[in-house]
Amino acid sequence: MCGIVGYIGFRRADEVIIKALKRLEYRGYDSWGIAIKDNGGVLVHKKTGAIGKVEKFSLSNGRMAIGHTRWATHGEPNDVNAHPHTDCSEAIAVVHNGIITNFQELKEVLTAKNHVFKSETDTEVLAHLIEEFYDGDLKEAVEKALSAVKGSYAIAVIHANEDKIVVARNKSPLILGVGDDELFVASDTPAILDYTNRVIFLEDGEIAELEKEVKVFRNGKPVDKEAEIIPWSIEDAEKGGYEHFMLKEIHEIPRVIDDTLSEHMDREFDLGYDKFVFVACGTSYHAGLIAKHVIEKVAKLPVRVEIASEFNYHPPPERATYIAITQSGETADTLEAMRLAKKLGNRVVTIANVLGSTATRIADETLFTRAGPEISVAATKSFISQLIVIYVLAFKLSNRIDLLNELEKISGEVRKILDNKEDIEDVAEILSKYRNLMYVGRGIAYPTAMEGALKMKEISYIHAEAYPAGELKHGPFALLGKDMPVIACVVRDETYEIMLNNIKEIKARGSFVLAISDENDEEIEKYVDHVVKLPAVNPLLTPITQSVALQLLAYYTAKLRGCEIDKPRNLAKSVTVE
Ligand code: F6R
Repeated sequence: MCGIVGYIGFRRADEVIIKALKRLEYRGYDSWGIAIKDNGGVLVHKKTGAIGKVEKFSLSNGRMAIGHTRWATHGEPNDVNAHPHTDCSEAIAVVHNGIITNFQELKEVLTAKNHVFKSETDTEVLAHLIEEFYDGDLKEAVEKALSAVKGSYAIAVIHANEDKIVVARNKSPLILGVGDDELFVASDTPAILDYTNRVIFLEDGEIAELEKEVKVFRNGKPVDKEAEIIPWSIEDAEKGGYEHFMLKEIHEIPRVIDDTLSEHMDREFDLGYDKFVFVACGTSYHAGLIAKHVIEKVAKLPVRVEIASEFNYHPPPERATYIAITQSGETADTLEAMRLAKKLGNRVVTIANVLGSTATRIADETLFTRAGPEISVAATKSFISQLIVIYVLAFKLSNRIDLLNELEKISGEVRKILDNKEDIEDVAEILSKYRNLMYVGRGIAYPTAMEGALKMKEISYIHAEAYPAGELKHGPFALLGKDMPVIACVVRDETYEIMLNNIKEIKARGSFVLAISDENDEEIEKYVDHVVKLPAVNPLLTPITQSVALQLLAYYTAKLRGCEIDKPRNLAKSVTVE
């Protein structure tokens, strides 16, 4: 999604902006731009494509600038539609994340007042609206412009006549970084970690002026905000010798497991109701499906799991504790579901990875995952850290000390997978040649299969889908054959025998079968083409070990296919539009 950065201070602002924008590249974008105050004017530079390819960038030695990475919503990705956008006088420059829903209406009114538009974007309307209201005070003009606007936004605005950046947010993330004699604006913390870890979180409806210091206002009145210290370092957001962030982040999983366990092992959970509804999207939704299995099985409490974008159409009638799972804490669909759940009088908890993110502000209670910054678009370590919170919750609710003890050993088992990953790399060579893949599982292994298929499709672009193994004969059997390999997630619990039967049925139809099972499973190799053998763990914990193996499988397959692993096409790390 779009990324915003801004700087005012003593350094060359163009250098700070380019560095900060590069730190936001992981969010996904198709074009970028910068506007800098220079000799009483505003210089703008915008380009389609990647900033990474810009070796030496020098626009001006000005000390105040705003920058943007754009993920196209209104108008195709090109130089003109890239941000920043300017007004008619070209004294005002605006960067924006979000969607102005009434922009067409506003554009017509402004056109009638002789404003001439250069781009097809909704954002340009903001620049012209601010121009319309500008009377020597940028903050006042921005306030007036925003009162006419509907939709979501995080914006940063500069004016040629003022030495300040004005920023505002409504339903799109924005943070302010506080350094010594310098201030920053960004959509996300990694953008500014090179310079400071002191952060002010702006809330919906707030507007701020960044001049010598930060002044925050709501409804025209000053608001007192303290800077918080973010416990992330810049090394956390760098590759540290790995070829890709994704591989680095998979290798961080053992540490992330231990950190997340230490965060929650000693706490008591009192989450309100004894009925749970999980809401989430994508990988986080799969964590919710695993939660259902574990909590219902072990704690014997009823659990529903809803895809956040569908939740609004049929919210459950009964009161419950809602648990929103979200790595970024900024996924628009998940936030909407949380707001609705709250409005309906439910208790809302979030399992989130980003301190200060919007989800943590909406929720009555936050269960933090300690994954650290996740840069690769594909969720890996954050997914496992979500599972860890879920397991601790389920095992504590049911007083299963035995299972908590097993959970404490799981990071060591994951380390063994990472130390023996060559087998997974070899089998990726086989899978990388296919155009379609099917993943199957039963019981707790079905959501694991879903997550494996999602990881594969998003980074290798191989079409991959997941089925409960028992469903194949109700239709998908027609797809089996030599062009459709099947990856079978096998768990040695009550599903094992029937799963072996399903695998035999698949083999009989000519598909290549790769099984993911454990090291003590001697039976499985009789029926499949290849087995990835993982350390034997309690069946309930296999989503952890199997998911790590499936993440590596997707990684190596994508690498062999020459895909851009950390930034897959058309995807964004933080999905801040509905
Ligand atoms: C897939 C992936 C996405 C996210 C989804 C929700 O690898 O990363 O499916 O899981 O966009 O994101 P969060 O967890 O930030 O709400």
